[in-house]
Amino acid sequence: MKTYEIKVLGTGMYAPKKIVTNVDLESIVETNDQWIYERTGIRQRHISSTEGGEFPTDMAYHATIDALKAANIEANDIDLILFGSCTPDVKLPNSASILQVKLGMTNNCACLDIAAACSGFVYGFNMATAMIQTGMIKKALIVGSEMLSREVNWKDRNSCILFGDGCGVAIIGRAEEGSESKVYSSVLTADGTGGEFFDQPIGGAVTPLTASHIEEGSHFMQMKGKEMFKVATRTLAENAQKVITEAGLSLEDIDWVVPHQANIRIIETTAKLIGIDMDKMIVNIQNYGNTSAATVPIAFHEAIVEGKIKRGDIVLFDAFGAGLTAGATLLKY
Ligand code: UT7
Repeated sequence: MKTYEIKVLGTGMYAPKKIVTNVDLESIVETNDQWIYERTGIRQRHISSTEGGEFPTDMAYHATIDALKAANIEANDIDLILFGSCTPDVKLPNSASILQVKLGMTNNCACLDIAAACSGFVYGFNMATAMIQTGMIKKALIVGSEMLSREVNWKDRNSCILFGDGCGVAIIGRAEEGSESKVYSSVLTADGTGGEFFDQPIGGAVTPLTASHIEEGSHFMQMKGKEMFKVATRTLAENAQKVITEAGLSLEDIDWVVPHQANIRIIETTAKLIGIDMDKMIVNIQNYGNTSAATVPIAFHEAIVEGKIKRGDIVLFDAFGAGLTAGATLLKY
């Protein structure tokens, strides 16, 4: 069977206009800038307007318009939209289909949401890669877009200080003849036994939302931070090593790692475990906090725009999240 190489054709991002600093949070929960910065590396996060215009598919629309321009293609050239989010606009229809309409697409392309929490973008990237490599589709739009501010408990200082809203996207397609761009290797994993470390059990089929849940505040996301921390570092390092080994490359070949931005200490520990210099880790958690599925594509996009990641560079995506899902991708940009 003929197979095709992959090229990242364009990227984009959207960050909501409203910025909430750590100091702003001091008036909401008992916390302080120093604790948050020292324990997490976060200085501020962007928060979507609740009035409209910055819901997950709105942010994805803006980010995609920029990515289409960068890729120099039309929305109707896209064969597949994979939308990673744990905070979709609505339960039905899926966010990918809503985005298809917002983009004015008329080609009836395939639309699927990916519920893999913080790993949603990397899950989508690897799945779309396989579909392009085998010739099933030519171009895919992969989205990570979250409005976590709706789902965090703003009375819980253990979690509300960590998260932010935002969106990042990438359009990938077949690499043209003579292009060096490619995906070397990829891995997707999950360990469902750790599901309770980060969950939101209220509001689904098992326990539908009631007025008393809202009163108690038990319907929000809840996380066991310490447990997540340990598994995150181990898994991120293991998956990075897996894709590097599978590609037959060495650590020195890697130009950049784009890790999930959950905590600067997780990123530093992961870098140590992999054995890679912190200078090669793309870090922007200080500006956005943890935007779940959006962290990797936002950090990737910013690093491209800032001129850090250049054509020909070897880049490693490394994500981990609730589920406990995880995924890594090793590619030549
Ligand atoms: O995206 C999915 C992946 N996400 C993750 O993997 C997140 C992983 N976990 C973490 O990033 C960290 O565990 C946290 C940032 C959530 C917490 O950091 P920690 O170093 O594990 O702190 P801790 O939970 O052990 O709390 C230390 C102390 C506690 O006080 P005591 O019990 O020592 O008196 C907390 O009550 O800090 C207190 N604390 C706070 N103090 C000020 C907890 N939250 C805050 C706060 N401000 N916001």
